[in-house]
Amino acid sequence: MRRPISGATRVAGVAGRPIAHSLSPILHNAWLAAAGIDGVYVALQIAQDGFAAFVEGLRSTSMAGVNVTLPFKEAALAAATEVHPRARRAQAANLLTFGPDGAVRADNTDGLGLLAAFAEQAPGFDPKAGPVAIVGAGGGARGAAAAFLDAGCPEVRVVNRTLDRAQALCADLGGRAFDLREAETAFQDAAAVINATSAGLAGGEALDLPLAATPGACVVMDMVYKPLVTPFLAQARALGRPTVDGLAMLIGQARPSFEAFFGQAPPAGVDVRALALKALNP
Ligand code: ATR
Repeated sequence: MRRPISGATRVAGVAGRPIAHSLSPILHNAWLAAAGIDGVYVALQIAQDGFAAFVEGLRSTSMAGVNVTLPFKEAALAAATEVHPRARRAQAANLLTFGPDGAVRADNTDGLGLLAAFAEQAPGFDPKAGPVAIVGAGGGARGAAAAFLDAGCPEVRVVNRTLDRAQALCADLGGRAFDLREAETAFQDAAAVINATSAGLAGGEALDLPLAATPGACVVMDMVYKPLVTPFLAQARALGRPTVDGLAMLIGQARPSFEAFFGQAPPAGVDVRALALKALNP
């Protein structure tokens, strides 16, 4: 049953462009309903050059905050008055919360979501156990590198088509940079390989990566969740590698965001993954 919206309903949302296909409203509203919280979570499409004005207009209002998705994660960081160290390290924010004093607090829960996804789908995996190879050097890769280094990973290897960007990431956070053509070397003895590139999105050609060079127990993860089993994950499965999907990461980043907006952890016992899968494959 649809909950009534009252004058006291707490409002949060997700801001991006495009945004209509976001799964976040499905996750958050299912948790709100199950917890009986007087709250609502909506998707907000923002004009390409409108993000700063959007934040300026919302601060000092009763809006709890917003998750931020592409292409505004860097703009979100710039709009904040206070930045959590993990958002600073990722150079991107996926969460803004608004204080009654006008504060705009930026955080990044993507890294927490990534580690939660590994904990859930590859429970035997220990981030401290060995090197992790991350393919890509954009915001997603940066957040992943920061999260794994913070979790005690002994070595992050950043593999990117544009070597300069991988080197810049490693100079900031620590790690070893590899050209995409050296992926095989980076994958040898890796405990995990993560695809954080946008290749294969929007109908583009998926990357062909030398996953056969990884050890048999190497965990393979793709941040993309449309389709749930990407060609990269399908290749990993065909080789017998354990895999972690991007939907688990999406749900993993939503949990701490929910807590930041509504003051309590999402209730247990709601199968938000099933709801998200239904929305992905109607
Ligand atoms: P995000 O912030 O979402 O990570 P981004 O900054 O646009 O997005 O980065 C996208 C990443 O995917 C980059 O590492 C990009 O490689 P370059 O730095 O060389 O541009 C990578 N990428 C995208 N399309 C690719 C392709 N077809 N082949 C290889 N890498 C690709």
